[in-house]
Amino acid sequence: MKQEEILELLNKMTLDEKIGQMIQIKVNEARNENKDLIYNVGSILNSVGAKNVKKIQSEYLSKNRLKIPLLFMADIINGYKTIFPSPLAQGCSWNIEVIRRIAEISRNESAFAGVNVNFSPMVDLVRDARWGRCFESVGGEDPFLAKIYAKIIVDEYQKKMNDNKLMQASCVKHFAAYGAVEAGREYNTVDMSKRELMEYYMPGYKSAIDSGAQMVMTSFNIINGIPATVNNWLLKDTLRKKWKFDGVIITDYTSMLECINHGIAKDEEDVAKKAIDAGVDIEMISTCYIDSLKKLVKENKISMAQIDEAVLRILNLKNKLGLFENPYGFADENMEKKYVFSLKNLEQATKLTEETIVLLKNKNNILPLNSNKRVALIGPYANNRAISSSWSIFVENENTKTLKEIFEKKLGKKNFEYSEGCKLLKKQELEQLLKVQPEEIRNNMEQYEDGDIQGVIEVANKADIIILAIGEHYLQTGEGCSRSNIEIPKIQQNLLDELYKLNKPIVAVLFNGRPLQLNNIENKLDAIIEAWLPGTNGAEAIFNILYGKSNPSAKLTMSFPQNVGQCPIYYNHYNTGRPDKTGSRYESKYIDIPTESFYSFGYGLSYSKFVYSNLRLDTNILKRNSKIILKVNVKNDSSIAGKEVIQLYIQDLVGSVVRPVKELKAFKKEYFLPYEEKEIIFEINEEMLKFYNENLEYKAEPGMFKIFVGTNSVETINEVFNLIKE
Ligand code: NOJ
Repeated sequence: MKQEEILELLNKMTLDEKIGQMIQIKVNEARNENKDLIYNVGSILNSVGAKNVKKIQSEYLSKNRLKIPLLFMADIINGYKTIFPSPLAQGCSWNIEVIRRIAEISRNESAFAGVNVNFSPMVDLVRDARWGRCFESVGGEDPFLAKIYAKIIVDEYQKKMNDNKLMQASCVKHFAAYGAVEAGREYNTVDMSKRELMEYYMPGYKSAIDSGAQMVMTSFNIINGIPATVNNWLLKDTLRKKWKFDGVIITDYTSMLECINHGIAKDEEDVAKKAIDAGVDIEMISTCYIDSLKKLVKENKISMAQIDEAVLRILNLKNKLGLFENPYGFADENMEKKYVFSLKNLEQATKLTEETIVLLKNKNNILPLNSNKRVALIGPYANNRAISSSWSIFVENENTKTLKEIFEKKLGKKNFEYSEGCKLLKKQELEQLLKVQPEEIRNNMEQYEDGDIQGVIEVANKADIIILAIGEHYLQTGEGCSRSNIEIPKIQQNLLDELYKLNKPIVAVLFNGRPLQLNNIENKLDAIIEAWLPGTNGAEAIFNILYGKSNPSAKLTMSFPQNVGQCPIYYNHYNTGRPDKTGSRYESKYIDIPTESFYSFGYGLSYSKFVYSNLRLDTNILKRNSKIILKVNVKNDSSIAGKEVIQLYIQDLVGSVVRPVKELKAFKKEYFLPYEEKEIIFEINEEMLKFYNENLEYKAEPGMFKIFVGTNSVETINEVFNLIKE
């Protein structure tokens, strides 16, 4: 439709019809007494399936006076039916093609299933492993990665909103700084300087918006005293005015109503006024808008223009998606049958998943395994299908292969034996979890009795190598799953202790959402594979890594702490006045654990061995609007071909505000043949040196900079250069 036609449509709408556009419900959740109001609603949450979506849409259109189509929005953060690794794991690939392919398949599958808007990417910066939602963050603890990945994902979903292309609108979330909740406790307070916010937490969201993301979701938390959902500074001054965002702002699930609990509004009407004044267009699930906006307009507490502005944005989005011409969008039963969960997508999933698996330890190069060796596959995740993230809401777990099945298929029965070893959690712990968790698990309760550790010893004794599949349950990590203890559950640690006594090599495969505390198990393990929550074809990808059919190349995007007491921990921190350097007592450190992380940002091993040398700059003087060419030699000093992520960090040595010890500024993922040596080239320019100063101006300051190039954020070779005024 042309813009004039949209405006005409808006003119024809009654106030009730307009307000209807501003709420989002789940199907069959007509909370308002007046059931007819349901046919004014603007959008639907998490209803999928081409047939289903078409049915809802056609029934709706037959009752909706002006035939304004519904928008179908859903959470497809790591795939629709073909489930990929969690976004945090995806980010560990450091491969934008991996991220793009996952976005592409996720978009196609869900678009055929009728999804118009995807609540993705999630780009909350995460530094605290206690927070259960770390696994959703595509950029992990780094703003530069968040920025790059956000762009790739938004561009891929939206295909620049070109007509006729298979596309989906992207809703970036959770605006803002949800990942910074105090003490990692879910939905908790966020209070930080605007400088810190702009510098670290905002780049991910900003990049999504600059790439044209059509929607923004507000976060549950308060920011500097005001809930994000009614925060004028955040939504109006920053998002709308400064960043020129003219798309649709939606609340998170009931976050509008929750403003009453925050103590910022006395009742629903009060919240509704605050939210519309801040520029919120759609309220998700709660009903402050539908119950109060009309009254607020009648009493002149808000203006009709405010309502019109919000509704126009929503209509514009529907129009951009072509829904006025074709209300069913890309929903297509045939394509759904052909494409969704297709063999091709599954094959892709295996390949893509391999690039997200991080090799954390490989003592004496015990990996890759030789298929002649007898292995004992042990542990509660060895034959477990629930290895997709908790936001894989449309997953069909029965289609997820387990490690045991893959081992059986690939090795036959002769060279391996399986034993569950122990249950996921102790019975009491599971009961604790069940109090707040869904029926699904409750129904399977009898499966989760405490395990019999002795039974496993026999199996392990026959093997040359033990592969131990352990971790945290997908319901222990995710929304509402903050933990103060981020160790592997005790019952699984006990299993390891028993196996350790056998004096056989043990390779752990970890299933988890967030960084875990591994200090008390690491020394008992010969190799550690971080498999995250790998999704539908995760088991096959893990097998390929274990047996060297694929060489690990992923690197951590979130630091693993020595223990939970270090949280929050992140590599790009500031120096203190007393850095931990000389061993003197009065330095910034802990007296019981090292200062550094257990596994650092950017860390991850390969079966190849990469050697860095000859770092050189074409000049040590950087002039404004000019550049430095940096070259470094990287050699694969091994007989195994592999990929390496070459990482470049910079430190501003003296700034008008304190600068981090290093910040990621560029990276390249390169493939190396056996013994191949390459000259890797990076360009350094002034843009890479900019930061927010005390007045929130984004500028580079002249002076000395240190540059670090290496295989992770710790093992680097360094150079210096000078940015001169001129
Ligand atoms: C709540 C979650 O915080 C958000 O990430 C999600 O998109 C919405 N619910 C919708 O399901």
